[in-house]
Amino acid sequence: MPMTWEETIQYIRTKPEYRCLVEKAYLEEDLPLNVERFLKSEEFRQTLAILKKYQPNAINILDIGAGNGVSSIAFALSGYKVTAVEPDKSETVGAGAIRKLKEHYQLSNVEVFEAFAEELPFPEETFDIVYARQCMHHARDLERFVAEASRVLKQGGVFFTARDHVVLDEQDKKWFLDTHPLQQFYGGENAFTAEEYKNAMQKAGLQIVQEIRHFDSVLNYYPSTKDEIENYKEKQIKLREAHLIRKIGFLGRLSFFKKLYHLYLDKKVGEILPLYERNIPGRMYSYLCIKP
Ligand SMILES: C[S@@+](CC[C@H](N)C(=O)[O-])C[C@H]1O[C@@H](n2cnc3c(N)ncnc32)[C@H](O)[C@@H]1O
Repeated sequence: MPMTWEETIQYIRTKPEYRCLVEKAYLEEDLPLNVERFLKSEEFRQTLAILKKYQPNAINILDIGAGNGVSSIAFALSGYKVTAVEPDKSETVGAGAIRKLKEHYQLSNVEVFEAFAEELPFPEETFDIVYARQCMHHARDLERFVAEASRVLKQGGVFFTARDHVVLDEQDKKWFLDTHPLQQFYGGENAFTAEEYKNAMQKAGLQIVQEIRHFDSVLNYYPSTKDEIENYKEKQIKLREAHLIRKIGFLGRLSFFKKLYHLYLDKKVGEILPLYERNIPGRMYSYLCIKP
């Protein structure tokens, strides 16, 4: 029998080899500590910047799949009126944890609902922003998940999904699931192709304004830093170019052949992928949509 998500987190908290993951995923037992870290993160700074750019006067924000509440509480502390939706009841990683944090910070601008995204208990056109962090890829019914988000969004409102796993095909999905560090315990991971996410958004009548791919922003590649990503890119370029020289000799040193080789490798998987997402299992994307 697989563990629940709550049991998984309680278990990995006792294992030193998962220490870093627990910290970076804001899953410490000390709930306010997670919030303080998320509040100070570059990811949250960029999230606020994007939301302010597209919805400068937003008041109401719905946080779908809010987990232990790090983002809901961070939004509330930043002045938004927050509605957190989370199907898991637990006080470790679910709605119970969000309620504890609400009390800890004495917040009157947070409401917590136990519900699934596919059936949101709110009337149409309620929210200025609908936000979902690392949640949409868990959808049991992706089209319904996104259609519900769109339904409860006001006209002109923003649907912002952060850090969803993207796979290229079934084989790539298997690789992602096989390599995911927690899948062996709880078995609840999932991912969709970028096309599946985008089709669901378009079908729900949303206009996709930004597709933020894995290496485009710290929003996705956190906990890596910008410097680490630059080093990684340079290393990948050098590896490819050394390989080219081994294959075709001195011609491989000419920029024309180098460019051609990069194009060839990028296209090999049927799509040009910026540096080199296909080496990252379940690479993460974020999307910003507007309800026209
Ligand atoms: C990886 S956690 C992310 C939690 C939180 N958003 C964060 O970033 O820390 C995914 C969350 O989505 C919730 N979830 C899974 N399926 C869902 C669904 N269909 N509708 C809403 N939430 C869902 C899970 O219970 C879990 O708390």
